[in-house]
Amino acid sequence: MGKILAFANQKGGIGKTTSAINVAAAIAQRGKKVLAVDCDPQGNCTSGFGINKKSLRFTSYDLLVGRVGGKDAVIPTEFDGISVIPANIALAGAEFELVELENRAFRLKNELDKLKDDFDYIVIDCPPSLGLLTINALAASDGVVIPMQCEYFALEGLSQLMMTIRKTKELYNPDLEIAGILITMYNGRLNLSTQVLKELKKYYADKLLSEPIPRSVRISEAPSHGLPICYYDKNSKGAKAYEQAAKELMLRI
Ligand SMILES: Nc1ncnc2c1ncn2[C@@H]1O[C@H](COP(=O)(O)OP(=O)(O)O)[C@@H](O)[C@H]1O
Ligand SMILES: [Mg+2]
Repeated sequence: MGKILAFANQKGGIGKTTSAINVAAAIAQRGKKVLAVDCDPQGNCTSGFGINKKSLRFTSYDLLVGRVGGKDAVIPTEFDGISVIPANIALAGAEFELVELENRAFRLKNELDKLKDDFDYIVIDCPPSLGLLTINALAASDGVVIPMQCEYFALEGLSQLMMTIRKTKELYNPDLEIAGILITMYNGRLNLSTQVLKELKKYYADKLLSEPIPRSVRISEAPSHGLPICYYDKNSKGAKAYEQAAKELMLRI
């Protein structure tokens, strides 16, 4: 039975999508079957796997509003062991439409539960908000991964996110665990970064994944070629760091 991991943080541009793509790819490299579910209307997770957002028959939007069943929304990728439920801008309306629907927090869960037997891991890329899309992702998941940058405001955002996770656990998903806090775009030469990391270690030692993802040009270039980092530059520091993160996350959930 597949394990479901959501990559969530209400802040944008902090490496959620990059982490979802590269952790999914690193897990698949370890011989597992992985489904990546794009739950952000920006569709970056979709294009990051080399899928054209404009030529999609079905997307996660159709899944959420009940227009299509799970299996029909899954598309294969050119990468071994990785399939995708894509997204595009059509998903932008879902947040409002979901409000009107019954079981509005469990739409994604109900569909993914039907797919769990077909995959070892399902990775969900969340939008930069704590609205119904993210709630659907958290309600469906066994674990949440919190990607974050080592910046001061990130610490403030983190306590807000922890509160949302706690509430979601109470209301929708008692089994939800924090699978890990993953530091992204880390530069160990910046004083602020090392200080913030020290704070994080103090309060969240058991949640923090062991190795931060370094800031790397190669990581940021990879999606423009439609490739995860382990395909774009498998010996890079970035690829190794995501490999390590994937290994730890697999052990934790
Ligand atoms: N480790 C990294 N090093 C350099 N650039 C990165 C790294 N991780 C992400 N980026 C870049 O930062 C930007 C935001 O990342 P993204 O994953 O899209 O964040 P989010 O999904 O949280 O909005 C993208 O341009 C991405 O390529
Ligand atoms: Mg994103």
